[in-house]
Amino acid sequence: MSALVSGYQPFPFLLDHGAGDCVYDPSGKAYIDYYGGHCVALTGHCHPRLVEAISAQAQRLLFYSTAGELAIRDQAADALAEFAQNTGTSRVFFVNSGAEANENALKLALKLSGRQRFASFSGGWHGRTLLALSVTDDPSICAPYGEQLAEVQRLPFADLEALEEVAWSELAAVIVEPVQSMAGIRTAPLAWFKRLAQLSRAHGCFLIFDEIQTGMGRLGHPFAADWLGIQPDFITLAKGIASGVPMGAVLMSDAIGASLAPGDLGSTFGGGPLACAALLATLRVIGEEQLVQRAASLGARFKQELPGPWIDRVRGEGLLLGLQTRQPAARLRAHLYSRQILSGAASDPHLLRLMPPLTLSDESVSRLIEACQSVEAS
Ligand SMILES: Cc1ncc(COP(=O)(O)O)c(C=O)c1O
Repeated sequence: MSALVSGYQPFPFLLDHGAGDCVYDPSGKAYIDYYGGHCVALTGHCHPRLVEAISAQAQRLLFYSTAGELAIRDQAADALAEFAQNTGTSRVFFVNSGAEANENALKLALKLSGRQRFASFSGGWHGRTLLALSVTDDPSICAPYGEQLAEVQRLPFADLEALEEVAWSELAAVIVEPVQSMAGIRTAPLAWFKRLAQLSRAHGCFLIFDEIQTGMGRLGHPFAADWLGIQPDFITLAKGIASGVPMGAVLMSDAIGASLAPGDLGSTFGGGPLACAALLATLRVIGEEQLVQRAASLGARFKQELPGPWIDRVRGEGLLLGLQTRQPAARLRAHLYSRQILSGAASDPHLLRLMPPLTLSDESVSRLIEACQSVEAS
């Protein structure tokens, strides 16, 4: 047994290397990665443009914190802000993970509003640091820390009437995953999002879009904020933002960015040059290979071609999809695994999650569709 303290139940094979939309065991057996390396491999595994950019940066300067001004950091922030140009968030603070991005957005909301309380939604998942955990609806990981968690009002997700009952002017921030991933790829009607944005804005409660899974083109739009036509105060990012080099970001409105003083935010590793090189290369690949459009068209194809005897409905948008199964999803997951296709479970036992690279090949698309049609009914 190794000394490793592991967080997740691993796949039942030793993972050796990756290329494109596949990962391989040491013997070279390929698995199509519809799990996307935990929704991280946005441009696929080891995309040559990423490897080239990271290698070049590694030879130039591996790391310096924001105590050293770096052109590549400014370029990365500008490129990300440009990609987010229609979301109303034009300023960028770099961090290292999703929890750290949410922690910073929530903490800033406390400081800027002078209020103490947050709201979040049933089924929302936002990370494991204490503020991020406080707004997360997952009793299995929250319960041991009950007394230590921040004060949070849990609201029912997608319930329009419930929004009217909230004392918005007492809240520092409300945080929402526009498509709830772990809860089973659930989203809400546009009217609900519009009302949420309207009420929070009218009462000075900061609106945080957790786009750690939905961002960077995965939904077939640059961000869920674009898809919904909503301008939140903060967008938090991580996962695929740098195609697997650890990185997170807090996007914020110009007004919020302008109100911050030097020293309000800090992170030793956040915005390191290696991560910035990977983010820049990721954005270039997204543009050159038209991956936002590809996510949209493949999502539409899956919605049309996957339903059948075993799959009742395909939920989600773009390449963040949930296969709602008529029988326990674990059976379909095992079947797909036997066909060398990796997928993700959800807290809903009748749902399988797909979050593959946006570079998914046509052959891998056909392989999944065939595999889903070949499940034997019992
Ligand atoms: C929607 C969402 N928010 C936040 C997080 C936390 O990100 P990290 O594990 O990088 O801290 C996750 C991770 O799965 C996530 O899916």
